[in-house]
Amino acid sequence: MASRFLLLLLLLSLLLIGNCIEEDETTTIKTTMEQFSGYPAADPSQEIHSIPVDSLALQQQIDELSTFSDSAAPSVTRILYSDNDVVARRFIKNLMGRAGLSVREDAVGNIFGRWEGSEPDAPAVSTGSHIDAIPYSGKYDGVVGVLGAIEAINVLNRSGFKPKRSLEVIMFTSEEPTRYGISCLGSRLLAGSVSLAKALTQTVDNANISFLDAAKSAGYAENEDFSSVFLDEKSYSAFVELHIEQGPILENEGISIGIVTAIAAPASIKVGFGGNGGHAGAVLMPQRNDAGLAAAELALAVEKHVLESGSVDTVGTVGILEVHPGAINSIPSRSHIEIDTRDIDEKRRNTVIEKVHESAVSISKRRGVDLLEFKIVNQDPPALSDDSVINAMESAAQLLGLSHKKMISRAYHDSLFMARKAPMGMIFIPCYKGYSHKPEEYASPEDIAKGVKVLALTLAKLSINS
Ligand SMILES: *[C@@H]1O[C@H](CO)[C@@H](O)[C@H](O)[C@H]1NC(C)=O
Ligand SMILES: *[C@@H]1O[C@H](CO)[C@@H](O)[C@H](O)[C@H]1NC(C)=O
Ligand SMILES: [Zn+2]
Repeated sequence: MASRFLLLLLLLSLLLIGNCIEEDETTTIKTTMEQFSGYPAADPSQEIHSIPVDSLALQQQIDELSTFSDSAAPSVTRILYSDNDVVARRFIKNLMGRAGLSVREDAVGNIFGRWEGSEPDAPAVSTGSHIDAIPYSGKYDGVVGVLGAIEAINVLNRSGFKPKRSLEVIMFTSEEPTRYGISCLGSRLLAGSVSLAKALTQTVDNANISFLDAAKSAGYAENEDFSSVFLDEKSYSAFVELHIEQGPILENEGISIGIVTAIAAPASIKVGFGGNGGHAGAVLMPQRNDAGLAAAELALAVEKHVLESGSVDTVGTVGILEVHPGAINSIPSRSHIEIDTRDIDEKRRNTVIEKVHESAVSISKRRGVDLLEFKIVNQDPPALSDDSVINAMESAAQLLGLSHKKMISRAYHDSLFMARKAPMGMIFIPCYKGYSHKPEEYASPEDIAKGVKVLALTLAKLSINS
């Protein structure tokens, strides 16, 4: 009897302790925030009393933004400088204004919302992502990192926080390559890509509409000198991007927050082979030089060289393999393959590219086909997150009592390019089954709120401490 009573007492007290932690959340964060920010407790303006994310409003904004789409719900299609993109941009600027941020845009339509700190001349702490959406995709990719960033500002403001370094929310133009074939267009330019600034004045889309005309129709490119977009070296002391994981790891492991330590970067290669072709019956095997088989052999060589790297982080894909003329009774006279290879280690990835090139040459010799083309279309270097940002993200997650793990981003993001201009970090949140770039893409309001809290505390720390 007595032991049962004791057990009951123990359970009750456990329950009470549990409740206490719940109710006391605000005070817990307040006191720890004092240590966290390193600010003297005597300065009440620097205390963060709670992290009150308005999940309802944030979800409504995500839902409303998804209606600015060229395809029917639940899918989202929002292409650079389209009417829906322009309306969506207005929506973002309006939200930034309502959060009290001062809004500025550059020549390609990167949008900046700034909260001036007490040290306005010091490099600012920036955060942001994109809102363009590939055809028939979902409503969370990128969006969580823009609307979530504005909500993080609201959270900090509601908590009475006053930034030391200024805070800036950035909406990047055209992270997706849909219209002009250039991914991360806005952040690439911010990072100072001279070749892109030049190319943009010559670029047209599939409908032969020039980038310049499209940008002007959306209200940009008044200044046709796109090097005006380049960031000054001292613009930002840090950049943090909140994003859905776009993979299944966090959900599978039941972890709330992913702390990204590196972003893998792709290289893409186009290869073409040419042979004599001929009749599938008349030309005997020893007389053939089959361009299709050369492509098939190269596809297998890509797999072999990727596996030889010995790291799971090296990947390679042949996503396009075309043969000409493409008839069952005709030996392929031309073939075209496109290869995507990625790694977080640039040297290792470039070794794969070299080996693939060697294979292409030796296959063409052995099979007597011409190597018509071996073109490295792009070869972006991968990026590592900065320890200062990793530490800020980690201690934010710890303070909030959220489970977290370090991980690698295998998709690439505007952060890859921002890393060239500022110490960078990324916060991942789980998404349903890892789905992305399709209508089923989903992240729960609870998971988004956790990401926003971690982002808010990370920004606060970087604004005050670094
Ligand atoms: C913060 O809140 C105050 C009071 O509601 C508001 O006037 C201000 O615009 C908000 N935003 C910023 C960035 O100060
Ligand atoms: C694209 O537009 C340019 C300029 O208007 C024109 O000179 C060119 O012929 C067009 N090309 C095609 C393929 O329509
Ligand atoms: Zn994205």
